[in-house]
Amino acid sequence: MTAASMTPQEVREQVERLGPWFHNLELMGVRTAPDHFLGDYPAMKFRNFAHAIPADLSGKSVLDVGCNAGFYSMEMKRRGAGRVVGIDSEDLYLEQARFATAVNGMTDIEFHKISVYDVASLGEKFDFVIFMGVLYHLRHPLLALDLLREHAVGDLMLFQSMLRGSREVEPVAADYDFQEEEHFDRPGYPKMHFIEHRYAHDPTNWWAPNRACAEAMLRSSGFEIVQQAEDEVFLCRRAEIMDGEPRAAYPAR
Ligand SMILES: C[S@@+](CC[C@H](N)C(=O)[O-])C[C@H]1O[C@@H](n2cnc3c(N)ncnc32)[C@H](O)[C@@H]1O
Repeated sequence: MTAASMTPQEVREQVERLGPWFHNLELMGVRTAPDHFLGDYPAMKFRNFAHAIPADLSGKSVLDVGCNAGFYSMEMKRRGAGRVVGIDSEDLYLEQARFATAVNGMTDIEFHKISVYDVASLGEKFDFVIFMGVLYHLRHPLLALDLLREHAVGDLMLFQSMLRGSREVEPVAADYDFQEEEHFDRPGYPKMHFIEHRYAHDPTNWWAPNRACAEAMLRSSGFEIVQQAEDEVFLCRRAEIMDGEPRAAYPAR
């Protein structure tokens, strides 16, 4: 029996077997995470920034990094993307994504167990990369951005991070004297909060940047911010690295 020919009851049983789900998908009338702590997630969030993504992705290649159960991968397929690849480090989420796409008859979306740190192993640059909700789960977030810029992003990247602290953004000077300390305490200066233990009961939350920091990290890794699509969501374009120095030193495997 293929997933596409399942009855709603069989889908419900599979959804239960594959839980817990982070993405609340609707599969043949069955909700995968109806009691999500963020509400109807991520559909609710997507509605706030969907306008920033090209409505027609015909012929474009898309890479969804940290794809989870495939919500964004499927949305990009619905926009006509030619090739859609989802990667995640967790087997359970990949299994969910494969099941959800099978139920929705979208079996041409590929899912692979690849960490963002190993993104070079795909050996391909994509027109549109989605890097949503992953940065703050990484112990080495800047390395991930550098690697994405170096090996995966051909043109656009949709980026989201949990942000904490001030939403103010002040211009950053090219340099400061050693005796100058005051700017470090200004709310609009880039800051990354390190989470030694847990935040929101989740041991995989390692970092919480303020907005200035998220923007500065993107610029420093060679991305131009084209549009702030939502409070935490930035549409970026691959750009020149400002000082021309190579960033990602991690070898392609
Ligand atoms: C908060 S969820 C975000 C899911 C989805 N991108 C979204 O925005 O709704 C974080 C996802 O990143 C994945 N992840 C965490 N570390 C990763 C890594 N090193 N490489 C790839 N995916 C990772 C997790 O398994 C999880 O599916």
